[in-house]
Formats: sequence, C-alpha cells, structure tokens
Amino acid sequence: MKFGYFDDAKREYVITSPRTPYPWINYLGTQGFFSLISNTAGGYSFYKDARLRRITRYRYNNVPIDMGGRYFYINENGTVWNPGWSPVKTELDFYECRHGMGYTVITGKKNGLKAEVTFFVPQDYDGEVQQVVLTNESDAMKSFSLFSFAEWCLWDAQDDSNNFQRNFSTGRVEVKDSVIYHKTEYRDRRNHYAFYSVNEPIDGYDTDRDSFIGLYNGFGDPQAVLAGKANDSFADGWAPIASHYKKITLAPGETKTLVFILGYVEMPVAEKFEADGKTINKVKALSMIAKYDTPAKVAAGMAELRAAWDKLLGILNVSTPEDKVDRMVNIWNQYQCMVTFNLSRSASYFESGIGRGMGFRDSNQDILGFVHQIPDRAKERIIDIASTQFPDGGCYHQYQPLTKKGNADIGGDFSDDPLWLILSVSAYIKETGDWSILDEMVPYDNDMSKAQTMLEHLKVSFYHIVNNLGPHKLPLAMRADWNDCINLSCYSDTPGESFQTYTNPKFKAEGGYSKVAESVMVAALFTYTGPNYVAILKHLGKDDEAKAAQDAIDAMKKAIMDSAWDGDWFLRAYDANGEKMGSKECEEGQIFIEPQGFAIMSDVGKEQGTDLKTLAAIDERLNTKFGLVLNNPAYSKYYIQYGEISTYPGGYKENAGIFTHNNAWIICAAAYAGQGDLAFKYYSEIAPAYTEDTSDIHKTEPYVYGQMIGGKDAGSDIGRPGKNFGQGKNSWLTGTAAWNMVAISQYILGIMPDFDGLKVDPSIPAEWDGFKASRQFRGATYNITVKNPNHVCKGVKSLTVDGKAVDGNVIPASNGGVHEVIVTLG
Ligand code: BGC
Ligand code: NOJ
Repeated sequence: MKFGYFDDAKREYVITSPRTPYPWINYLGTQGFFSLISNTAGGYSFYKDARLRRITRYRYNNVPIDMGGRYFYINENGTVWNPGWSPVKTELDFYECRHGMGYTVITGKKNGLKAEVTFFVPQDYDGEVQQVVLTNESDAMKSFSLFSFAEWCLWDAQDDSNNFQRNFSTGRVEVKDSVIYHKTEYRDRRNHYAFYSVNEPIDGYDTDRDSFIGLYNGFGDPQAVLAGKANDSFADGWAPIASHYKKITLAPGETKTLVFILGYVEMPVAEKFEADGKTINKVKALSMIAKYDTPAKVAAGMAELRAAWDKLLGILNVSTPEDKVDRMVNIWNQYQCMVTFNLSRSASYFESGIGRGMGFRDSNQDILGFVHQIPDRAKERIIDIASTQFPDGGCYHQYQPLTKKGNADIGGDFSDDPLWLILSVSAYIKETGDWSILDEMVPYDNDMSKAQTMLEHLKVSFYHIVNNLGPHKLPLAMRADWNDCINLSCYSDTPGESFQTYTNPKFKAEGGYSKVAESVMVAALFTYTGPNYVAILKHLGKDDEAKAAQDAIDAMKKAIMDSAWDGDWFLRAYDANGEKMGSKECEEGQIFIEPQGFAIMSDVGKEQGTDLKTLAAIDERLNTKFGLVLNNPAYSKYYIQYGEISTYPGGYKENAGIFTHNNAWIICAAAYAGQGDLAFKYYSEIAPAYTEDTSDIHKTEPYVYGQMIGGKDAGSDIGRPGKNFGQGKNSWLTGTAAWNMVAISQYILGIMPDFDGLKVDPSIPAEWDGFKASRQFRGATYNITVKNPNHVCKGVKSLTVDGKAVDGNVIPASNGGVHEVIVTLG
C-alpha cells in the first residue's frame, strides 16, 4: 500500500495522506540552521548542534506520536484546523505534503479555504522561512483567525528535558511589533537569541504556553485557538512559546500571503543590548527579517535553493532501464548522503539529538557518499575527524560538532575506527586528484602541538591494526568493531552498564580489553582498505614502506585463511575464551554478514573459490525478500560473552535484523565477483523506492534508507515468527545511505573514481541492454554510454573516449571539457 508518489521532475515525494504509518520527515538547512519537519509539520530546529543549541522543543516517544512542531491553526467560525492535519486532526477536504530538496510544502483545504505553507531554510541563512498562502476558493466572504505556534527549547536539549526545578523559572521573552524574541539566559552567559516573526502587523500574541494551550489541554485543542483570540500573554519562567494571532478576511478568489521567520542570532558580547543594558539589540534580527519579508524575496530564496541542489545533483546522473534506480541515484540517495554529512547520527526521529555527536567511523564512511558533491567540505570534515585521533592510531569514537573535541565519555578502543580514515582519505583523493591532503598538518587529540601530516595519520591508522593482533594473528576485537553490539570485552551482567564503555574487571590489567578476542570483520576490512594505503605510498615513491604495508596485508590474508575460513564462509570472531563466533560449530549465530563482503572484495582465498561459496551461503542463510539479515540463526538467549547483540529479541537490530548498512557490502561483493544479477537482487530488496508499494509493512519513508528492517526471525521470541518482518526503523541517519550510493553507482553501475582516473566497470543485470550516465569528474564531464549487446553481467570488452580506444577500463583524467565515452560489455 502506498501513501503518496514520487514526482521525479520536481524531485519531490508527494504524501497524500497525513496518516502515514510513521511520521515521514524531511530536513531543512545544510549549513548552520537545521530543521526536521514531518509530513504534518512536527519537528524542531537547532543551530549546528542538536543538543547544545536546540531552538524549539520536541517530545520524543510521545503519545500520541510526533507532538511539537511549527503549527498554524485556523479558526473559521469555530471550525478549527491545521493545514497539515495534526495536531487538531480535523478531517481536511484536501491534504498534501511535498517533501523536496531542502524544503517542504504542506497544503490543506477546509470548507473552501486553502492554506499552502512552504517551509525552507535559505542558503547562508540562520533561519527557517515559512510562507503561508491563504486562498478563499469559495464564492463567499471568509473571516477567520490564524495562529502560529512554536515552543522554545531552553537551548541545551538534555538539560531542557530533565532540570525542571531550574528551567521552570528561567524562560524569558521580549515582544516588539510582530516579532517574539526568545532570550532565555541571554542576560547572563549566552550570546545568542532566537526570534519568530511575521511580515505584517498582528492582532495579538501569546508567549506563555500554559496561557495559550491551557494546563489541561494539548496541542490539539489549545484554548486560545478554540476561543478565537490570543491572550497577549507574557512568559516569565515556565514555558516560553511564540504564537502570532491575526484576523483575516478574504473575498472570494482572494489570496493573502504571510511570511513567518524562525531565526537564530549570535551577538558580540559588547553589542548584546540597547543603551538601557536590558533590551535585546535587534539589528541583526531585523536585517534577517528584511531579507525575506515579501513573497518575491521568498521566491528568490527558493530559486537559489533549487539552483544549489541542481548543482549538487548535477554531478552524477544516470538513466537506466529502472525508474526506481534513477530516482534513487539521481535524487534521493544523494540527498540522504548530504543529510548524513550534515547530521551524522545526531538528530532524526529515532536519534534524539542529545545522545551522540559525530561518530569517527560513521562520519568517515559518510564521506564516501557525498565526496563528489562537496569535496572541499569533505576535506574539512576529514581533517576534523582525524584531529580526534590519538598518536598511536586509536581514536575517540565520537566528537561534538560545536566543540569538535573528542568525547571523553565514550573514549576510544573501537577496533575498526582507524581503518575508516584510510578509506575516506582515499575516496577524497580518488575523487579530486588532490594529493595535498596528505601534507596537511593534523593534530592528535585536538592538540596542535602534537600535529603530524595526514599521511602520518594514515600510517598510525594502518599500524594500529598491525600492532594489535591476537593469538591467531587477527586484529583484537577491543570494545567493539563496526558492530557496536559485539562486545567481546565489555560484556556485563549488571543492568545499566554500557556495553561499549564498561571495563570488565577481567580485562582491566590487560588495558581494558581482552587480548584474546579477535575480529575477523576488522581483518577483512584491513585487507580491503589496506591496498589504498599501499597505492598512496607507491604514488609518493615510498616503495619500501609500500612493500612493508603489502606484506602486512598478505600476512593478514594468510591469517584469515589459516584461522578464519569456516569451510563455506568466513568466521565472525574469536571470543575472549578463544571460542569461534559465527561458525557452523556454534549453536546459534552460525554465519554473520560483516566479514564476508570485505573478504570477497580483497580476494581472500579466491583461488579456493571462497567468493562464490560465501555468496552461495549468504543467499541460502541470510537472504530474505526484504534484504539480508545480519546473522543466522538469531540468538534466542543471552550469550554473556558476546555483549549487547543477544539483548535484542531475534530479528531486530544487530541480532538478525536486516541491517541495511552491511547489505551494501554484499551488493558490492556480488558485483565485484561478477554476479550482477545477484547484486541487483540484493539492491532492489532494500532500496527505498522499491519498498514504496509495501509502505504499510515497511512503515518508514519510501524515499530514504533506514538503519534496520525487521528480519525473518522478528517475532520468533514470542512464538510468532515473521510478525514484524519487513518493518523499517531508524530512518535517515545511517551509513546505509553512503554505502548503498557506493554499491549502486560504483559497483553495480561501475562508475568508480580511482587514483589514476575514472574507472568504468559495470556489474549489472544480464537482461539490461545497457544504461547511460553523465559524470562530472575533476573538472571534466563524461557522457557515458554502456552497451550490453551480449547480455552479460560484467566485463568491459572495449572502451572509447571521444572515439579513441582506451586500454583497460580507466578513463584517464583529462583537462576539462565534455567527453563521450562508449563502454561495451561482452
Ligand atoms: C545500538 C547500535 C548503535 C550503538 C551506538 C547500540 O545500542 O544497537 O546500533 O551503534 O548503540 O552507541
Ligand atoms: C549504528 C552506529 O552508528 C554505527 O557506528 C554502527 O556501526 C552500527 N550501528 C552497527 O552497530
């Protein structure tokens, strides 16, 4: 069942029912000011950091769902409604929500009155513009009142949600003309305030929540709106809000447009106040308001936003036999990659914005998905991330975007972290050809006195693995590897202990983690990532170092084959007791997805046919119609020695859920192994556009990936296997976005930046006749036509650039211009 449709020409998903199976959201803003907005206008805004600079309040896990947002209420002769249906939930005569690239348009109609609200954050602007267009579509005069609504958060979202003894007494506002200012703590230590404005005189306002809503009412029946009149209330402590009240009369056919702005302002300390030392200096706010105070200026702002997205999405464009592939590659997957760049894992409808900052591994992987769109910002991001590394190659696992400092609460010792830096730096060089990133001086632990070149950071990353091997010469598993829930050292039997940070007394003397537990996943990631480091060293003429690194990779491959090949697939790990995990010998959890793809892509044991054997085992044991489960069979009891993984009911999250992130590694591996049909099968099982028809089952947005889909074992713990099979969770902020972008564009369609040029090596469904793509790369544009006359999956028979044959399948980088590339498979 569908709840809308794709409007590809406009790059929009059009939601036609407000009762989606879960709130379906969009993101506004790409620089400093960000908003989350659901299809019923729920959500919140923040400046840069969703925890430390939360501007409006939102209630996670609320009943009913999705409460709090920017709401417009209309009261026409006692009929009260919202253009986005919620929170009043009056049935509308028409409802539509269009989520587009950085904007959302919500339209509602009731009794001949149409309200169309456009929400967006303009380029280089610290505010959300909300344009409300009201049209009287009836043939009679209409008089009604309009109320806006935003609830201020007291800046630190964590403190805001628990420190009530203080917070109920700190809220402060100012009202001047049609602007309501949120100046909580501005008098003392904060040099920033927020405002909510409208571009016309108003008939009243409310700034005190309880006066506006009523203590025993809710967002769905605010008493001021029901009464049809504002109270001109003034918040002093308690809960400050901002609501404008305006009486409007429209003749038949008449339209009225109002522009509201929710903005954020930072002030130099010396200029915070007017001469009285108390009143906010509003100069900056007023100039922000003036920027968008007419519909014409709003239209120009929207045009600028569209132009920015045209540019970002113009770099890679494909035309394949599948519409769904085109809309994922050309629009939504690239869009989601930009959102994960901006937000990392901080703020979504599943990530509260107070839990995590930017992850070292997550942010590095995100680079892979958007480096072609904004290489300069990617470089800056890579440097920020690398600055939280330690001199021995270990890393802080997370950092806060506002301070850019490593987060000491979570610390380090996640065994996979350093390797992702090698991958992101390589991806940056492959995209741009800019080797100078290797010469950048980058601090360790944010301490510039300890700075070393980025190349040195790569070296310590690589050797952090080599220097931390266990009894089988495989990398130590430490606190966790990519799978945060396989905690072979931090296992615990006391509720509340974090599986990632808990130090098991058993391993205290050994430095906090077991010197026996080993990760095959990190071993395979090392053999997959390492060759990039070798290629970099060779390019720099450091042949001895390159050879040493290659020897370490070869030794790792041997260790994997000696101790981690289980006969039909690769093991997952050795636990702290030296027992195998992810083996046929195990009672449950016999096969895991994570090591397999990387091992296949680095040819580990290929001469013994490990690649095809492993793919066959994956297909048999892990594949389902909704994607590949992470492990099988699911754990049905608590295995203390594995940590968090078996705390989840079978079929969810890391315990045999369909963890879409690492589905991509198998898609890549199948494509790499020449199995284009298989790769495409796995791709289409999880690609959001393909889930659209089953939105009632999938629940989350059909235009973006989620972290997880309920696996085939979901429900098994309650004797109802298959109960939530196929149900998506944790949409938007996931490494799935970047990796599936890589899987479809670089491995299936095969357009893969390499150190020496643009490689084209498709691995597609045999039935395809071919496809077309245009790719801007290092200043040139390549119009690529792939022909598949013999209906093979893989194998470039010939490649011509502007009619001239090229040996192999790498288009050498050129000096700009537009080039016609013909690739024939066969
Ligand atoms: C989740 C993981 C997540 C981790 C982050 C765990 O509880 O299951 O998916 O990566 O928390 O800290
Ligand atoms: C989500 C985390 O953000 C990511 O870092 C981790 O790799 C996966 N969960 C798997 O546990």
